Amino acid sequence: MKLFLDTAEAAEIAALAASGLVDGVTTNPSLVHKAGRNFLEVVKEIAGLVPGPVSAEVVATDYEGMMAEARVLRGLAPNVCIKLPLTLDGLRATKALTAEGAMVNVTLCFSAAQALLAAKAGATFVSPFVGRHDDVGFNGMALIEDIRLIYDNYDFATQILVASVRHPVHVLEAAKIGADVATMPPAVLRQLASHPLTDRGLAAFLADWAKTGQSIR
Ligand code: G3P
Repeated sequence: MKLFLDTAEAAEIAALAASGLVDGVTTNPSLVHKAGRNFLEVVKEIAGLVPGPVSAEVVATDYEGMMAEARVLRGLAPNVCIKLPLTLDGLRATKALTAEGAMVNVTLCFSAAQALLAAKAGATFVSPFVGRHDDVGFNGMALIEDIRLIYDNYDFATQILVASVRHPVHVLEAAKIGADVATMPPAVLRQLASHPLTDRGLAAFLADWAKTGQSIR
């Protein structure tokens, strides 16, 4: 499973990328607004922080506008992945951009029917939003299961990029289902590594080691 960070905070990305565990980054207009920086500048900086795909979202809603904005974003760095909304114009742009060799992440996916069309359009990634599904009383993970089944039925190459992740259990459930990628806030990646018994066990080891009076030099 690939692990992406869902943020436009370059400093957070740099800090966690040092672990070697970060395979890519996803951004969206709301995350860019939260970061408070120039969009093109921050995408270019982020693309230099991780070797993998960095999703940068168009804001045009028409095909021609999407294609024009995609050309600008693709020019920022070779690992920029164009994020397009799951609309008919977005799917048309997906087909055109993938034909040109661009990476495309089709976002705001909330149904298996939509995900089927994203695969038909040849998207590199589809981003089903599990947290926002959970927020309105639906089971976001059931959507991931449905998409996995459909994609395996037809051997679609589109990768399932689980998005709108709220906590480590979303990541674990996505991994059990066989999703290809999970994108998450930096805090969730830290939570994945954290366990109180690990902390307690390490403290006990270090306390006993200190009693030996030895050092490893
Ligand atoms: O960036 C796409 C997605 O992960 C955002 O989800 O629900 O946290 O805004 P959300």
